Amino acid sequence: MAILKIARMGHPVLRRPSRALSVPFAGVERQLAHDMIETMLDAPGVGLAAPQVHVDWRFIVFRVPGERVTGASGDVEAPAQILINPEIEPLTQEMELGWEGCLSVPGLRGSVPRFTKIGYRGFDLAGNRVEREVSGFHARVVQHETDHLDGLLYIDRMEDLSLLTYTEEMRYFGADQTARNAPPA
Ligand code: NI
Repeated sequence: MAILKIARMGHPVLRRPSRALSVPFAGVERQLAHDMIETMLDAPGVGLAAPQVHVDWRFIVFRVPGERVTGASGDVEAPAQILINPEIEPLTQEMELGWEGCLSVPGLRGSVPRFTKIGYRGFDLAGNRVEREVSGFHARVVQHETDHLDGLLYIDRMEDLSLLTYTEEMRYFGADQTARNAPPA
């Protein structure tokens, strides 16, 4: 196991589309997936996409911490997990603003519009098909991570850059303690 170096905004690897992978993973991809989970938990973060550790492969790791979920259908606590070749489909046109941070954009937070409910498909580490309908924070973190695979950062999704702030100044936006302490993705 190893803690990996995280690419920061400006590194070209964060702007390139990632390549789809064949499943199940062989040894080298399996090792990288485990190292990405370790890196995410160490940061600490709630998600990490392969380009953030300088690898242009189409997979993400994420978790859904209990303090961020609404408890609504499709938005419950979930442990660290791997999703390979994720595909997202919005299940509503409704979007909502929520605070996000990114391990590749350290020190900043932004209020980002995301679909409130999505379906996603992909594969787990063993090559089993994963299909879920999720909402709330679960939907948000998967949208954030999958964007990384298309070379997008959360800032690209923001419609109002006056809602971009250093974490220390979030109090001026009325952000509660949970949002201010929330790990980035
Ligand atoms: Ni990120």
